[in-house]
Amino acid sequence: MRMVDIIERKRNGAELTKEELHTFIEGYTKGEIPDYQASAFLMATYFNGMTAKEQATFALEMLHSGDEVDLSLIPGIKVDKHSTGGVGDKTSIPLAPMIAALDIPIPMISGRGLGHTGGTLDKLEAIPGFKVELSEAEFIQQVKDINLAIISATGNIAPADKKLYALRDVTATVDSIPLIAGSIMSKKIASGTDALVLDVKTGSGAFMKTQEKAKALAQAMVEIGKNVGMRCMAVISDMNQPLGNTIGNTLEIEESIEILKGNGPKDITDLVLTLGSQMVVLAGKAETLEQAREMLIEVLVNGKALEKFGDMIEAQGGDRNIIDDYSLMPQAKYQITIKAPKAGYISKMTADELGVASMLLGGGRQSKEDTINYAVGLRLHKKVGDRVEKDEELVTVYSDQKDIEQVEKLILDNIEIGEKTNAVPLIHEIIK
Ligand code: URA
Repeated sequence: MRMVDIIERKRNGAELTKEELHTFIEGYTKGEIPDYQASAFLMATYFNGMTAKEQATFALEMLHSGDEVDLSLIPGIKVDKHSTGGVGDKTSIPLAPMIAALDIPIPMISGRGLGHTGGTLDKLEAIPGFKVELSEAEFIQQVKDINLAIISATGNIAPADKKLYALRDVTATVDSIPLIAGSIMSKKIASGTDALVLDVKTGSGAFMKTQEKAKALAQAMVEIGKNVGMRCMAVISDMNQPLGNTIGNTLEIEESIEILKGNGPKDITDLVLTLGSQMVVLAGKAETLEQAREMLIEVLVNGKALEKFGDMIEAQGGDRNIIDDYSLMPQAKYQITIKAPKAGYISKMTADELGVASMLLGGGRQSKEDTINYAVGLRLHKKVGDRVEKDEELVTVYSDQKDIEQVEKLILDNIEIGEKTNAVPLIHEIIK
């Protein structure tokens, strides 16, 4: 089978067979198919999409390009959560210990941030000593011991995705539904979880800018999961404004701990409880979402979730004293206040541009090789719908440089103050 014929059929809108997709994925992983042919395939897929059957086969072929983690030594139904990426999205950090505190094993393989989006692993590395690289045996043992581990991918998971993702990044083919669905689900199936809750973001800070596209992506991923016998559902949540009140690594760990102490901002606490309730039901620990929500609130109130977070920090080599003393994490040299230029109501806070502001301070990566400054970031004092008076504090910038003119301009250009508007709904839809 020749790759040029496979590209031609995809270009003409045909449904590719399992053999054709296998030839492409295997050949590309082994380096037998060159980047220029893979790029042509990606662009043809970008424009012509894939049928549901093709999407599922594509994901499985990517999965089979590498190893699968065997979690069968961990008793119970293992659950995981995956977000398609956003700004200020620290959800996994408080959510995972809450789930673990309910005696549900949560083996979480997470990612790093790129561009304006932050990654869970980078945030956790703001904790002095915290290691995200564990061997598969250490990972399994830790989940057996404390129900919880958050690590980076072990071994050789979906190598086809690694190569294809890097190629998509430079060929303008990232935001394609079948390509994202295959990329995420191949890694999630390989990670060995039994149940998965997907948090599909929509809005300015998300890959999927419209709710319609987010829904199509959610449906594609849920279908791929169900096809392999995984308990799988998706929540479509808003990413037009940042989630919570902080962007930046130390700041987001602080906010995560505040959530676990019961003092978190309303929006992110709500999202954590919504996603968590679905996870508890998928794990078979509660019959209804209401019951699951009450169980999650209980582990916040009785301190068990916070204790579990401390256990995870300690198990992964970090300093658990940060829970009571945030100054043990990297701190920025300067805190600079940006004040509201006029009175009114916050009508818009463009998530992606505020993510870029944090990245420009050094809090995120512009390319994969960049190192991160954990200390820097933004604290938002207002969110969409809030009233603000002229000269009232709008944002505090945590920076290692005094001169933040460019960042300040970017922030002010992307926070609109206008007429009274309703707060943005956070949860748009549930897909099962
Ligand atoms: N995250 C992934 O892992 N893959 C994508 O394609 C997009 C987001």
